[in-house]
Amino acid sequence: MPRPIQAQIDLSALVHNLNVARQYAPNAHLMAIIKANAYGHGLLHTAQALKEADAFALLELDAAISLREAGYRQPILLLEGFFTTQELALFEQYQLSAVVHHNEQVIMLSTSKQQGLNIFLKINTGMNRLGLSPEQFPKTLETLTTLRSIRHITLMTHFANADDVTDNKSFTQQLQCFNRLTTELTQPRSLANSAAIMRYPETHADWIRPGIMLYGASPFADKTAKELNLKPVMTLSSNIIAIHHLKKGSSVGYGGLFIADKPTKIGIVACGYADGYPRHAPTNTPVLVSNQRSKILGRISMDMLAVDLTNIKNAQLNSPVTLWGKGLPIEEVAKSAGTISYELLCALSPRVEKIVQPV
Ligand SMILES: Cc1ncc(COP(=O)(O)O)c(C=O)c1O
Repeated sequence: MPRPIQAQIDLSALVHNLNVARQYAPNAHLMAIIKANAYGHGLLHTAQALKEADAFALLELDAAISLREAGYRQPILLLEGFFTTQELALFEQYQLSAVVHHNEQVIMLSTSKQQGLNIFLKINTGMNRLGLSPEQFPKTLETLTTLRSIRHITLMTHFANADDVTDNKSFTQQLQCFNRLTTELTQPRSLANSAAIMRYPETHADWIRPGIMLYGASPFADKTAKELNLKPVMTLSSNIIAIHHLKKGSSVGYGGLFIADKPTKIGIVACGYADGYPRHAPTNTPVLVSNQRSKILGRISMDMLAVDLTNIKNAQLNSPVTLWGKGLPIEEVAKSAGTISYELLCALSPRVEKIVQPV
């Protein structure tokens, strides 16, 4: 018998969430973000469920090549572009598109023998991560339009705060900056991540770039995935593998962080930080045991964690436990652990078996 932990991947939820993204921006093309092994969900079956997307984006070259080799014909964008001139041959061979975000890449393109490359020229409108400065942008665009290596240019930027309802100001500044630089230009444009897709229709432009919403999680602190009509794709579950009856004053786990203040029935679950569950999730982080809400007790260890069974009806050895997903929004777990759903999804360990539920 394998360890009982598993991640169910519901491909019909992916299809549903893709349709939700389309409904928000019916006139835009949709580029599905499937970097980091499709946010931890597994690349190829995720791509298969999202096969109606107009393009894919990721940043791992080997994953992009494996998508091409699997037969996907839509544009595949590498979000950090290329790092060396040598890589450009692979971009040409596999017809991959590249984000161009600094002038060293422009120099590589100008000396390259490759032809017919499609690029997304990224402007740093205020996030200060990747992108040309607004001052560099016009000249660089002019240079790029003269290069034989380039067939097609799309203009893009990325928002730092589209998810943050308390900070509309920096979002507006970024949008204004991008519009000021690009509205007079003829190239297609791309700005919107999930938060912007759902909250700011004025950002939809030619290409939307949904990531987290496809996986059924909310990018917003003030709105749940359910309220946004998104369905969770990944459900992480396991079983109770041991039960203990604690006397008042007994402690649980490394560091004895939880001390029972009354007789307490606890269950040990086969799930720990080596599976991707966050070690910093404190006592009281929610879990479901046999579909009833309960909570983590004490410190998460590498392979196990403890849950409170005191008020759980019929809790016994092998009772099913949901760590997140259907019935328990991942955002709740992330919030309790002081992180975001993105990090929990991406951190799912390769040792956790994925059970893919077809469309
Ligand atoms: C350039 C770019 N576009 C779009 C996305 C998708 O963002 P989200 O998952 O918030 O929709 C990301 C993800 O970080 C990104 O880096």
